[in-house]
Amino acid sequence: MYEDLYALLGDELDSYLKRTERSSVLFKKAVEVLPEGIGGSAAPYKPYPIYMRKAEGSRIWDVDGNEYVDFNLCWGVLMVGHSHPKLVAALKEALSCGTMFGFAHESSEKLARELCRRFPMDGIRFVNSGTEANMFAVRLARAFTDKSKIVKIEGTYHGWASELFISKRPPVGKAGPPSKPTPVTHGKGIPSGIVKDTLIAPFNNIQAMENILREYAGEVAAVIVEPVMMNAGVIPPRENYLNELRALTEEYNVLLIFDEVKTGVKIAPGGASEYYRVEPDIICLAKAMGGGLPIGACGAKKEIMDQIESGDVPLYGTYSANPLAVTASLTTLTQILTDDAYSKIEQLGNELMNGYREIVEDEKLKAKIQGVASIGCILFSEHEVSDYRGFARVDRDKWRKYWFSMVNRGVIPMPYGHEEEWTISVQHEKEDIELHLEVFKEVAAKL
Ligand SMILES: Cc1ncc(COP(=O)(O)O)c(C=O)c1O
Repeated sequence: MYEDLYALLGDELDSYLKRTERSSVLFKKAVEVLPEGIGGSAAPYKPYPIYMRKAEGSRIWDVDGNEYVDFNLCWGVLMVGHSHPKLVAALKEALSCGTMFGFAHESSEKLARELCRRFPMDGIRFVNSGTEANMFAVRLARAFTDKSKIVKIEGTYHGWASELFISKRPPVGKAGPPSKPTPVTHGKGIPSGIVKDTLIAPFNNIQAMENILREYAGEVAAVIVEPVMMNAGVIPPRENYLNELRALTEEYNVLLIFDEVKTGVKIAPGGASEYYRVEPDIICLAKAMGGGLPIGACGAKKEIMDQIESGDVPLYGTYSANPLAVTASLTTLTQILTDDAYSKIEQLGNELMNGYREIVEDEKLKAKIQGVASIGCILFSEHEVSDYRGFARVDRDKWRKYWFSMVNRGVIPMPYGHEEEWTISVQHEKEDIELHLEVFKEVAAKL
């Protein structure tokens, strides 16, 4: 039934099927009404995804009763870990006061202040996801500059809005020259009229960006980047790249948008803007800022945010800044992700990253461990990866064998997908890192 997978995974597939029988049953029922067998936030993959039942601290349990140490943490959302007691208490309290008001409430102002303290922005609008935050950022930029084109980096992901769902993972054969990539829609359903306003540039190549900005001078509203590419493994900006990008966008009168949905509040309290000391014009946040409840934010300098007040750029959203999500975010940022928490996580992150590097060297694996702060990944590549074209060459099958082998031994090393990375939470301990490395050592010897 799973011939291709057997060829790739061998015994590891047998082991997976045996350990996850109940997941297999649930999957068969789910696909009858849910495409791919998932309701939304879960990676679909073959033979079928694991169905989870509960989670606490650094651990998660599946419906078959298997326990895993969790470094997926919901695509990095859960830097607070699972069911953090402070978060649970704050949410119970908030719930006892009502779920939603449909009116303003005090905690939004407190949360906005905390974010403005961490990030170089004067004002914020809350939304419900990273996708929404980026859509609004582009709208704000277009309105502010009165221009319509945007430049996006090849291989980045900014959510699934049509204008940004382009060149996320283009087949290299269709992607054009590396220094001036051709826009490729991610799937169907995106009108060509929208594609024409999204220009694509390679990451870490300031000359290529300058060529594009020069060619389209006067037409570009904004350049949008993930300051560290984190949907193609972890690809850090090369030294000075973000500073040069800042200077270039100023020279060409173009706004700079940092999509900090993955980096924000994670690689430093103030995200990439703090870590690399670069001030973009607009910042998008989501994921870890919410501690596990759906919330996103788009913030900018005053003159850009003033477009909301003036009525030039309206924004609506029934669930935006709902009291539960705001409470979760405020508790996360003020009571859980404290300076001590960042120090602890960074130390654990160094241990994991160094441990991986040693094992890769000892086992002579053709792999690179790339990371920033506590976030890291394994790329099965002989060379460091510095842009999408390098990422497109990594050995994806080797990664799948690695992932299933780790999971079969009780460690979820990262979300499913060779483009993903590990997250360490404030509730992880040294023993969790040691267990992860012990398992990786055993697995590496078989890769
Ligand atoms: C960098 C980045 N931006 C935006 C998004 C979209 O966020 P959401 O899934 O909350 O819509 C993601 C999701 O993975 C992301 O990684």
